[in-house]
Amino acid sequence: MVELELSDKEFKSFRDLIAERAGIYFEPSKQDLLRTNLLQRMEDCGLSNFADYFQLLSSPAGTKEFDHLLNLIIIPETYFFRDQAQFRALEHFIIPEILKNESDSGSSLRIWSAGCSTGEEPYTIALIVAAGIEGVKYPSVQILATDVSNAALEAARRGVYGARSVRDVPKEYLNRFFSKKRDKYFLDESIKQMVEFSYFNLVTEPYPLLEMSGWDIIFCRNVTIYFQPESTKKVIHNFYQSLRQGGYLIAGYSESLRYLSDEFTTVQVGGTFVYKKEPQDKRPKKKARRTRRNRSRQRTPTSGRSRRLEALPDRKVAEIQQICARAKELLEMGQPEQAGDLLAPYLEKKTASESVLLLQAEIFLNQGDLENAVQLCQRIISCEPLSVAGYYLLGVVYRTWEKERKAIEEFKRALYLKPEHALARFNLGDLYNQVGQLDEAKLEYANVVRLLREVPDSFDERLAGGFSPTLLIDTCLSRIKELSNSK
Ligand SMILES: C[S@@+](CC[C@H](N)C(=O)[O-])C[C@H]1O[C@@H](n2cnc3c(N)ncnc32)[C@H](O)[C@@H]1O
Repeated sequence: MVELELSDKEFKSFRDLIAERAGIYFEPSKQDLLRTNLLQRMEDCGLSNFADYFQLLSSPAGTKEFDHLLNLIIIPETYFFRDQAQFRALEHFIIPEILKNESDSGSSLRIWSAGCSTGEEPYTIALIVAAGIEGVKYPSVQILATDVSNAALEAARRGVYGARSVRDVPKEYLNRFFSKKRDKYFLDESIKQMVEFSYFNLVTEPYPLLEMSGWDIIFCRNVTIYFQPESTKKVIHNFYQSLRQGGYLIAGYSESLRYLSDEFTTVQVGGTFVYKKEPQDKRPKKKARRTRRNRSRQRTPTSGRSRRLEALPDRKVAEIQQICARAKELLEMGQPEQAGDLLAPYLEKKTASESVLLLQAEIFLNQGDLENAVQLCQRIISCEPLSVAGYYLLGVVYRTWEKERKAIEEFKRALYLKPEHALARFNLGDLYNQVGQLDEAKLEYANVVRLLREVPDSFDERLAGGFSPTLLIDTCLSRIKELSNSK
């Protein structure tokens, strides 16, 4: 391959062209990676400088070449039943609910897998539909799967997979819908026929109304992670327009819509979060004007709804806040029993706010009573399904209990609701490190460093167990170094 420097100016021109055409955005740290990809394509085209290659890409004849470049750039990583909880939610909650609401109209069930890569995601949906859902009768089912990578689409249409791709497929599906020849798994024709594959670029606007509207469910997972927030916002808004009322958007675990859209409602189903386009009659009416009284009690973005606390008179709320503050002090002074005694009268149903229960769960954790700590966290989450603190604490309890996989799930849930939660990311980094997912561990440590340097609200001193932000950054950097050296 030719040795050529990619100047900053050239880097920016290519970066902007790629972002504009495909949404994928190269951070400055990825300049070298982009240079390698460009050089590879230039060699195939017989070109020896970046300017000529840029001109080729920009010319009308460059569309096909852009496709080739894209195939090098994109990360097609995917597998069947990836993030299983989401497929459980699809099977046990989302499809039955949609079909129940549509049974009168007799219309079809329409599911779109946007950014389907080599097909594992839409085929997983097809497998679930084909296997049948208890008590559910389908009308006709349409599954559309789209991607910008023609190479990925071709592989998807072939439907032949390696062991890595099918590692999470339940045995009964594997036996029933795949045939194995040597080390390859061939998907049954009946499943392949259920999915229609098509080229579609999510950043090309406007979406064709006829084909791209009226969806019941849209899956778009692990696609926009490489986009700039502005591009993602547009894509999410287009999904909103493309969904039927009452339809669902299922995003990847690291793709919270928190700062990207306020059109969807976050719903917790079967241990995972999905986004719902509420039917018109259920959408919140104009926001009530905030009075001084309700302003002081509005919910914090991370704590979800404290319904019980809201129902109490001001005097009682103030009293509980005081008690919590004192109990926290006692806990920090290493006196969990005294803290528990103080809280005990407030644990009854009427006064048991999220903060009281969280503190009591922390006390259990402190005392090594992990079973009760788990139960209490679960109670908090069932009352406050959007409680970041509840998921975080449950993660900590499971981690203490050495239940790494469970802890990982809880920290992922906390991050789904608050992606900038540096300590949840730090815990996740450690857990991935422990279970041998070293690339994921490195990524999370790097995320912690970025968050602590760039996002002021990402650090909670009380949860940090003596770590200062600087110490946490140093620790992450040294763990990244260790992990890089150990490869
Ligand atoms: C990491 S894969 C995710 C596959 C699958 N959704 C999953 O979660 O397992 C990302 C896919 O998004 C596709 N993609 C990237 N940019 C896209 C765009 N602008 N429009 C459509 N697909 C895109 C890539 O080609 C790639 O196949």
